[in-house]
Amino acid sequence: VMDIRKLYAQTDAFTYDPGFTSTASCESELTFIDGGKGILLHRGYPIEQLAEHSTFMEVAHLLLRGELPNSDQYSEFTNTITRHTMLHDQLSGFYKGFRRDAHPMAIMCGVVGALSAFYHDSSDISDPKQRMIASHRLIAKMPTIAAMAYKYAVGQPFLYPDNNLSYTGNFLRMTFGVPAEEYVVDPVIERAMDRIFILHADHEQNASTSTVRLAGSSGANPFACIAAGIACLWGPAHGGANEAALNMLHEIGHPDRIPEYIARAKDKDDPFRLMGFGHRVYKNHDPRATVMQETVREVFAALKVNDPVFDVALQLEEMALNDDYFKEKKLFPNVDFYSGIILSAIGFPTSMFTALFALARTVGWVAQWNEMISDPGQRIGRPRQLYTGPTHRDYVPIDKR
Ligand code: ACO
Repeated sequence: VMDIRKLYAQTDAFTYDPGFTSTASCESELTFIDGGKGILLHRGYPIEQLAEHSTFMEVAHLLLRGELPNSDQYSEFTNTITRHTMLHDQLSGFYKGFRRDAHPMAIMCGVVGALSAFYHDSSDISDPKQRMIASHRLIAKMPTIAAMAYKYAVGQPFLYPDNNLSYTGNFLRMTFGVPAEEYVVDPVIERAMDRIFILHADHEQNASTSTVRLAGSSGANPFACIAAGIACLWGPAHGGANEAALNMLHEIGHPDRIPEYIARAKDKDDPFRLMGFGHRVYKNHDPRATVMQETVREVFAALKVNDPVFDVALQLEEMALNDDYFKEKKLFPNVDFYSGIILSAIGFPTSMFTALFALARTVGWVAQWNEMISDPGQRIGRPRQLYTGPTHRDYVPIDKR
């Protein structure tokens, strides 16, 4: 029997890189990360400056259209997005098909995928204008879809978008407002929420973005591609970590119990990991986690709350950062470690956390998808494999096996 590796050597060569730790799948102008130094730039702009000074809509314009907008471009862009916030009434009917306790990410996968059955013009992906319209539709409808998933779970009627509000203010109202009652958007909460969206907007070739690119590389419908990205984001090793991190902090419950959990995370016979810790690329610190920690303080001050779970998080971070295991493996809090604490203080149930991540990451997904389709060198994504099964053998009739 010929060694299968020799067989491959005779035909063609390829790299074997499980998890793509050192394989670039594309060229991109969108996002730069230096994991060793803890640097994240979007088209050159540091994430800290964007989080401090810009709005999510400015960052969306930057990622999708290439530059930060001037004020005319900003009004044009926000008006365009606003025009697409409504959901086709037929789509509202989809929600009733789900159980009330359905996970919002299950609903988002279904409803976003179903958009492909409503906008047939968007299937002409060779037309850049149609691609941009599909991108606007997705960015605009995600808050409506996510807010409706929340309303369905709590048994309240859906609220239509109020397009006099900002992108984020409108989302907060659709989520927490009730019919016939005025909902006043708290500017501190609106700003915090907008900042969370900025911090999640794009992060180069993470698993869900790579999924969107891979699905899109076959020429698939854009809504179907984004639904694929949502499915990938849902996993606890990716976007689902914010939900898992807060659940873990509640389970720890008191700083006294932190050593027990640190010991478990270090125990190779225990599958437990500190959720919200570690990152494939950041080996120094995740700059988004730093901004997120500051935002917790701002939101707590504005809401006049002090969730004890924040103390558990701060002490857990400190103890882990001083622990040899975490130092040696370069494990630091990632963006998901603190985001859940803020979202919970604002009033979101944990099941909504990843849906909010999906809402924000849609901007990166559509920007990356557009960049890929516009690339003249773009080819269908088709990784190779290292085959480890049997080599050639002859068929044996069933009565002879
Ligand atoms: N707790 C304890 N140990 C950990 C943790 C953790 N959170 N993360 C990694 N390690 C250890 C691993 O056990 C492994 O140890 P070993 O070398 O002895 O085998 C080593 O550190 C490297 O870990 P890998 O899983 O190989 O690293 P990878 O780059 O594949 O995974 C990941 C990165 C998935 C983020 C991982 O750190 C993890 O599971 N973290 C918890 C989940 C999480 O917070 N995910 C959010 C990521 S950010 C985002 O998606 C927005």
